[in-house]
Amino acid sequence: MQKRVDFLVIGSGLAGLSYALKVANYGKVCIVTKTELPESNTRYAQGGIAAVTYKSDSYEKHINDTLIAGGNMSKREIVEMVVSDAPARIKELIEMGTNFDKKNNGEYDLAKEGGHSENRILHYKDITGQEIGRSLIEQVKKHPNILIKEHYFAVDIITQHHLGEIITRDTTDIECYGAYVMDMKNNKIETIISKITYIATGGIGNIYNVTTNPNIATGDGIAMAYRAKAVIENMEFVQFHPTSLYNPGERPSFLITEAMRGFGAVIKNQNGEKFMKKYDKRGSLAPRDIVARSIDTEMKISGDEFVYLDATGLNFTELINHFPNIYKKCLNLDIDIIKNPIPIVPAAHYLCGGIKVNKAGKTTIKHLYAGGESAYTGLHGANRLASNSLLEAIVFAHNSAMEAKDLIKDIKFNTIINNWDDYGLTLPEEMILITQEYKELEQIMTNYVGIVRSNIRLKRALKRLSIIHKETEELYNKSILSPKICELRNSINVAFLIIKMAKRRKKSIGLHYNVDLPTQN
Ligand code: FAD
Ligand code: SIN
Repeated sequence: MQKRVDFLVIGSGLAGLSYALKVANYGKVCIVTKTELPESNTRYAQGGIAAVTYKSDSYEKHINDTLIAGGNMSKREIVEMVVSDAPARIKELIEMGTNFDKKNNGEYDLAKEGGHSENRILHYKDITGQEIGRSLIEQVKKHPNILIKEHYFAVDIITQHHLGEIITRDTTDIECYGAYVMDMKNNKIETIISKITYIATGGIGNIYNVTTNPNIATGDGIAMAYRAKAVIENMEFVQFHPTSLYNPGERPSFLITEAMRGFGAVIKNQNGEKFMKKYDKRGSLAPRDIVARSIDTEMKISGDEFVYLDATGLNFTELINHFPNIYKKCLNLDIDIIKNPIPIVPAAHYLCGGIKVNKAGKTTIKHLYAGGESAYTGLHGANRLASNSLLEAIVFAHNSAMEAKDLIKDIKFNTIINNWDDYGLTLPEEMILITQEYKELEQIMTNYVGIVRSNIRLKRALKRLSIIHKETEELYNKSILSPKICELRNSINVAFLIIKMAKRRKKSIGLHYNVDLPTQN
């Protein structure tokens, strides 16, 4: 079956939804999403969205904080653009119905997180992502130009390769004509031909065995773009959030927002020692790469499986008012955060790299754009500043939409696309093999490509990964397509890119910490 739309949007997190709403004024939009519309990393965002709101803060301060957290590897012009566009984009979110908490005097209640020199995080309780998603989904569902396809899995983007042409990484005029997507309820592959395609498929957390990311985060968009020969960059910078709730077996790991540290909670080891000042003078509110690494070191020294985040002694009425969801969650596990410290561990959280895009979100492939966590924009450098991710998603979605509005009139549909060749055999043992390979992948990435790396660990990771890569490709080639085999294959693709880029980097910087390398200043 073939379908034509002006804009194909893959993913329904903040990047996909906000882009769809903007371009819907200029043509027909189709959003495909692999589970239900709200399910995304966006939905789980707690702390909030960073922006300069009041005079006591300034663009200069937010720019500097972003550059410092990113190990001075961010692109300054991108940082300046994002920071200065933030107030306008946030105003639009508010106009679309998003609520942010206010104080009694009517001013926004701004929170503080690690690496921020000011209180500048707009938030809604401790469920900011859910609130943003709610308001955008309401708008998307009402829009007459937007078709929503839930339980549709994007398999591959369509380029000249699918017309039989030979495409290599040196081909300069690769063009995107849409995507092959699987209707997951009927197991049928549909061809969606589009004038412009927007990848907004989010992150990769599930390649690690402890992650804050829901199970949709398997790097699909990045892997699709890579297979289509788009340029991918900065994949070695995987961010581990320092404070996820220690609750073995729970997946995703429940996040304890950094805003709780901004509120006064401190990290301690199991002896009650506030160890963070040993590692950084900013203590518990140092940037994430430093805090996660320090916790990792402490746990290795002590042999303990977790450390604590201690919020006892803080004003409990305000604590519960600010963090009602965390309070409830912990109480269900018999942890009363007013009286007990919270056991925490670092967890894979965010990917700073991704599909390389320019200021307008354009990839290196014609008519293919990318945004949100799947894109590498240059904002985060070697480590993302807290609450800059939601911001990046809306700023770049806007820019991409503005470029699309001018472009769309001149793009014609490609009318000679073949449908997907659905040849294959389902093997009875296929599902268990896929599950086993996925477990092995998580082990490889966790053991060898985690918070602390070394040359030998990276070498071993690549060797082990090549084995499961080969086995998975064999399985893929003889199986009827399923989302699970696609996710496994995509995750192996992104893991390969992370290891390859980690091996290539010759200094430790930000989130890439290799004990065998000198530190880049
Ligand atoms: P997502 O929101 O992850 O959306 C991706 C979408 O793509 C999903 O709908 C998914 O189903 C779909 N998809 C994926 N693959 C396919 C496929 N093959 N076919 C079809 N659809 C597909 N950032 C902040 O700035 N502030 C915070 O407070 C904050 N808190 C966070 C808390 C948690 C627990 C987590 C996990 C992240 C947090 N982040 C935060 C990071 C931030 O939430 C994400 O980086 C951001 O929401 C990413 O948005 P996105 O639109 O790019 O992707
Ligand atoms: C958090 O609330 O700690 C997450 C914020 C982020 O990832 O930016």
